Amino acid sequence: MDIIANIAELRKRLSAETSIAFVPTMGNLHDGHLALVALAKQHASCVVVSIFVNPLQFAANEDLASYPRTLKPDCQKLAAAGVNVVFTPTDAELYPQIQNITVRLPGIAQELCGVARPTHFEGVATVVLKLFNIVQPQVAVFGNKDFQQLFIIGQLIRQLALPIQLISGETVRETDGLAMSSRNGYLKPAERVEAPRLYRALQQVVHAAQQGRQDFPEIESQTMQFLTQLGWIVDYISIRNAMTLTIATKADRNLVVLGAARLGKTRLIDNIEFEI
Ligand code: PAF
Repeated sequence: MDIIANIAELRKRLSAETSIAFVPTMGNLHDGHLALVALAKQHASCVVVSIFVNPLQFAANEDLASYPRTLKPDCQKLAAAGVNVVFTPTDAELYPQIQNITVRLPGIAQELCGVARPTHFEGVATVVLKLFNIVQPQVAVFGNKDFQQLFIIGQLIRQLALPIQLISGETVRETDGLAMSSRNGYLKPAERVEAPRLYRALQQVVHAAQQGRQDFPEIESQTMQFLTQLGWIVDYISIRNAMTLTIATKADRNLVVLGAARLGKTRLIDNIEFEI
């Protein structure tokens, strides 16, 4: 496995590759990331993983400085998983000058996670587009756990006519249901015990909708109240059309319930796609 930090060197290494699948990450890799790598391997002869904690997608009050950086064990995991190339640029390599050309996104980037993190998705889309330009993959693999991010990357690829097939990987969960995330490491022991409740609350929403309840705003606010009473600080619980991410109507059949909530200083997100 080649570990490359330099853009020119990476381009040279990849120049003869005809089939590249790309998995962008911010490192601190867990089994969820490795599942994306396994998916990537099914789609191309060369798998490239990037590890880059992207400052552009963090607001000033967020966890950029404390975000876990674990390059050595990450590379060991990727080598064992059969990855061909790991791209590990520094901030200066990816942003040699102030990145004041960015991707302007549609309104959905200001909804859901975009309410608490108004510049987040612009930072994500900009770095992803830049990474796509550098790696030039035929296939890109993203996790379903970041459902809104996946939707926005899908729009980016479609609206900018990027020649990339987007593949999504299922959320990988701990045995108690908690969605794997690099940020789970921030949870204190008692918070870790409480954390799977977000997923269970989303499961209750799915159950209610599948039992025939159509008062979606009421279900959302009841779920938010339930979590709040248990000490969560809830950003949103929202039932949406799974294809368009617009607010679900009674006519929609393919739905997704998304949630974001904080336990202490850890912000967790999760979602479940379902049909009624
Ligand atoms: O999902 C992530 O880890 C990041 O948002 C991504 C896609 C690697 C961009 O920095």
